[in-house]
Amino acid sequence: MLNPWESIDLSDYENHMSLDNVGQLQALNALMREQLFSHEVKSVMILGVAGGNGLEHIKDGNFERVYGVDINRAYLAECERRFPSLSGVLEIICADLLGDNLKLPHAELLIADLLIEYIGYECFKKVVKLVKPKYVSCVIQINTDNSFVSDSPYLHKFDRLDEVHCQICSEELTDVMREIDYIQDSQTEAALPNGKKLVKTDFLNRSVL
Ligand SMILES: C[S@@+](CC[C@H](N)C(=O)[O-])C[C@H]1O[C@@H](n2cnc3c(N)ncnc32)[C@H](O)[C@@H]1O
Repeated sequence: MLNPWESIDLSDYENHMSLDNVGQLQALNALMREQLFSHEVKSVMILGVAGGNGLEHIKDGNFERVYGVDINRAYLAECERRFPSLSGVLEIICADLLGDNLKLPHAELLIADLLIEYIGYECFKKVVKLVKPKYVSCVIQINTDNSFVSDSPYLHKFDRLDEVHCQICSEELTDVMREIDYIQDSQTEAALPNGKKLVKTDFLNRSVL
């Protein structure tokens, strides 16, 4: 059975996320800029990169290697098409992070925005241990109502996400990251137009302390 994310068009996802009452694509773009430039690193891996929102902040020479990982091959193809300037730097990796025998290269910085909700804590820990980054930065969404998908004309395109979605709590995330030697460094919140909020938490490996 296909993961629900493999059946969602990128245009439906991006049109929904950029609606005025949702405003998440814009908020995530601003957060990605902070995430990319908070540390002096030469390699970054972005999990659930989708169409590459925020990659335009990367200019020639900022990074030697940028890995974009996603389960949806069409998203990755579009991501590569949108950023010809990152040719030779951007390497796309089509992988199901929930799958067995996962192999991922090392990167100094690991970014996961609105991704942990679809793989859960245990799988995320497994991925962090594989990539062995010095720094991890993640964004999770906190809902103020019962729905994790905001109301929009695209709402029903996301119906099957219920099958894989799990609510993430920032305190629990900090606890599970500590189990694998990643310590919370900072946390910021961004309010969204519909009352939901995005919480960005940065972690660093104990060896960096
Ligand atoms: C909510 S979107 C977030 C996209 C982007 N990070 C953003 O913030 O706009 C979740 C992304 O994670 C990808 N994804 C979900 N489950 C995955 C899995 N098991 N393995 C790899 N990628 C996955 C989806 O295809 C999608 O691009």
